[in-house]
Amino acid sequence: MEIQDILTNEVASSPVVYHKLKDAIQDPESTFQDFADIIRADSGLSSRLLRIVNSSFYGLSTSVDSVTHALNILGVDQLGDLALATVVMSKFNGIPKDLVNLDMFWKHNIACGLMVKEIAVLFGETNTEKFYLMGLLHDIGSLVMYKEASAISRTCLSRADYEGRHLYQIEQGELGFCHAQIGGELLKKWRLPDPLVESVYYHHNPFEAPKFPKFASIVHVADILVYEIGLSGSGEPFIPPLGRKVLEFLQLEKKQLTKIKSSVNDSFEEVFQMFYG
Ligand SMILES: [Fe+2]
Ligand SMILES: [Fe+2]
Repeated sequence: MEIQDILTNEVASSPVVYHKLKDAIQDPESTFQDFADIIRADSGLSSRLLRIVNSSFYGLSTSVDSVTHALNILGVDQLGDLALATVVMSKFNGIPKDLVNLDMFWKHNIACGLMVKEIAVLFGETNTEKFYLMGLLHDIGSLVMYKEASAISRTCLSRADYEGRHLYQIEQGELGFCHAQIGGELLKKWRLPDPLVESVYYHHNPFEAPKFPKFASIVHVADILVYEIGLSGSGEPFIPPLGRKVLEFLQLEKKQLTKIKSSVNDSFEEVFQMFYG
């Protein structure tokens, strides 16, 4: 089996609103009103976006009461990324319940998004939606596997559990590739930017990322921190080890990680309800 066999048409089609926004950004004729109209056309999306913009996810001092206002404050690019984060979850319905508890899966991935965002802030990065997306989507390939290759997924999950080995290693042995690569290829098909694609594709082997090992390393670390606060949920039977080399490469200290974990712990429930509730 090849990765492309798993990426069926239904899964591989990208979230529509996101690409309408991106296409509008590339069109020099587009006006601010066009962007607002695209978002407003999906009333569920606009109300969810406004709730998120007004939450502790941003911690803004003013209250944002309209899509136009949100566009003014965040800009089109950032709001587009936020729109992607809110619509992507509905793409994966119909996965056999014995394979994954979707609530737990999204808890793990949303918390990872928050961890990545916190680490990025520490590094002085500003476009935090992009970083949130890296964490939110890091294990998306697992959902594709559960949906499109449920029998093999079932074998991998029980072998990982029984043999006490990492799931991605078992997947690699069974298929020749793992959920991280499936996720990366999916995001490539969705025409998402390279840093996002690489950070997902290489989150289990960050030093192999050709152009963005730093981003892949951040996601790698964030993933492990999520296990450490008790939100496993992507099928891994035990906590992957946090390599010293990765911490040295990122110049992160254990003290900083403790702070990040506690800050994510504080905001997690609210953010989870907003994106998933
Ligand atoms: Fe993973
Ligand atoms: Fe993970």
